[in-house]
Amino acid sequence: MCYQCGSPSRRSFTRFLAAGAGLTVLAACTPEAPKAVAPSSAPSSASPSPAAVTVSAAPTAETATVGQSPEAPSPTPSPSPSATVARQFSLDDPASPWVIVNKHRPLNPADFVPADLVRPAIAISAAGEAALLNSTTAAAAEAMFAAAAQDGVAMVLASGYRSYSTQVTTYNGYVAARGQADADTASARPGHSEHQTGWAFDIADGGGACSFQPCFADQPAASWAKANGHRFGFVVRYPWMLHPVTGYYYEPWHLRYVGVEAATDMANRGIGTLEEYFGLEAAPGYL
Ligand code: DAL
Ligand code: ZN
Repeated sequence: MCYQCGSPSRRSFTRFLAAGAGLTVLAACTPEAPKAVAPSSAPSSASPSPAAVTVSAAPTAETATVGQSPEAPSPTPSPSPSATVARQFSLDDPASPWVIVNKHRPLNPADFVPADLVRPAIAISAAGEAALLNSTTAAAAEAMFAAAAQDGVAMVLASGYRSYSTQVTTYNGYVAARGQADADTASARPGHSEHQTGWAFDIADGGGACSFQPCFADQPAASWAKANGHRFGFVVRYPWMLHPVTGYYYEPWHLRYVGVEAATDMANRGIGTLEEYFGLEAAPGYL
């Protein structure tokens, strides 16, 4: 992918990411700072909801508006009664693999701590709590990293779990470095980060190339994860140019576990965001 060519919006977006890359790396290495659908390989820690829910249809990445700010209007998801998955999970419970955390949906409780944090048996460059994931995500990551290695792709866990207090430090660091408006396009406010759930983590390439930088998208680990992550239950949570929906610019390193069935369904249907998949409103900015 070419990050130095194309539209002015893409160039400014690239500059934005490059400016924040250093801080992101620092944050990653520092132990600081609803309603609709479900996965086929249901994690043991998940809480199935009583009724099946319809998966919403969603615009594909190709139909998303390009070049808008995270605060710009976004596509409105529309229900798709035909598509369903076998099992359903809560979109609100932070212990659910389907919990949706975004700028409109803070964690509840805000100080949630996963009950089953473990250190996965994979290559890890993070220290302290950032080396942890919830047990379901850890097992899926171990399987994914092993499969990547079999394909000759080295992958590293660069940043996993982040407590509320760590997110306070992380977010405040972003704000101090570039102001709140820019910070809000790259770092979640405390109580609004998927990292606090244990369901999400950031990867780096085996050689460490382009970590937390735009060029990471072209590294083998990112390419492999984008193409294969769904087989292990992962989605790239903040896809290219879907910031009008997610509220965050492209993060090819940030993977989110939602289960194999939902992740595969999203991949097969070309649905880029969890908001669209679950029929939730876009969350470009805080309410
Ligand atoms: N960088 C992602 C949005 C987070 O801070 O959780
Ligand atoms: Zn992340």
